[in-house]
Amino acid sequence: MEVGPHVSLFSVGDEVFGDLSGVGFGGFAEYVVADETVIIKKPESISIVQAAALPMASVTALQALHKIPGTVEGKKIMILGSSGGVGTYLLQLAHVEKVQVTTVCSGKNVSLMNQLGATHTIDYTKDALDIFGSDYDQIFAVHGNHSLSSLRKLLKPGGSIIVVGGSVSRLIKALILAPVFSLTKKTVQTLAAKPVLKDLLFVTTLVEQGLIQPYIEATYLFSELPHALELCRGGHAKGKLVITMNELNRE
Ligand SMILES: NC(=O)c1ccc[n+]([C@@H]2O[C@H](COP(=O)([O-])OP(=O)(O)OC[C@H]3O[C@@H](n4cnc5c(N)ncnc54)[C@H](OP(=O)(O)O)[C@@H]3O)[C@@H](O)[C@H]2O)c1
Repeated sequence: MEVGPHVSLFSVGDEVFGDLSGVGFGGFAEYVVADETVIIKKPESISIVQAAALPMASVTALQALHKIPGTVEGKKIMILGSSGGVGTYLLQLAHVEKVQVTTVCSGKNVSLMNQLGATHTIDYTKDALDIFGSDYDQIFAVHGNHSLSSLRKLLKPGGSIIVVGGSVSRLIKALILAPVFSLTKKTVQTLAAKPVLKDLLFVTTLVEQGLIQPYIEATYLFSELPHALELCRGGHAKGKLVITMNELNRE
């Protein structure tokens, strides 16, 4: 490991982590060059595997939760796709901020949702989306393909849908229909998360304080990368999957 001549924040031997998406990626490499402005020191209390599971998903979740300005405390929200990488952070961050959360996932993930702080959980394979009411302040469409019109019916007047991910056609409709939605006093917005260092520092502090935790379904060796990517592509990973370069870091 080396540091460049203009690096002032880090020294050789520091354990660092961050989101490399803005500097050419490289997260699956053994060595990578990164600008010092996109990485932070790994706290000792957080393992390398946990640190690897933090950057993009947790920051996306934080920015989604605060997409609509104003306090979220006491609000009632729904998260569709709550058991994946972004969803598990979004649920925990909302729980920390005393938000009432209805999560939506398949039956096998219901107990995890309860464990991470969900108020209610809907099994999308058998339950209707309105079993816990149609008075949501915000609905986060993180995964899946429920239509915007079906989600709109679950909002209270003044409520918002925040499209984070899921089907591309829903994302495109959200962009096109935003002006039409606002005429009905309900809004739809899309999120384009950015790798903001202060947001990563914020969620890292919450992990250090034990208020949230990266939920990691499994750790794979670099040689198992194709299998792990196939699982991700399948759309049913639970929390995060982490790749390690050697057996020592496997958890
Ligand atoms: N807007 C941005 O800036 C931004 C940033 C990062 C990621 N994203 C996008 O956000 C989305 C989520 O990312 P991720 O990393 O969290 O994905 P992920 O980890 O692959 O999500 C997997 C989870 O999605 C759930 N899921 C699948 N189909 C579902 C459905 N029909 N209804 C409800 N849940 C369903 C699965 O739960 P079950 O197994 O229980 O079905 C699984 O636990 C992706 O589309 C990604 O591209 C957007």
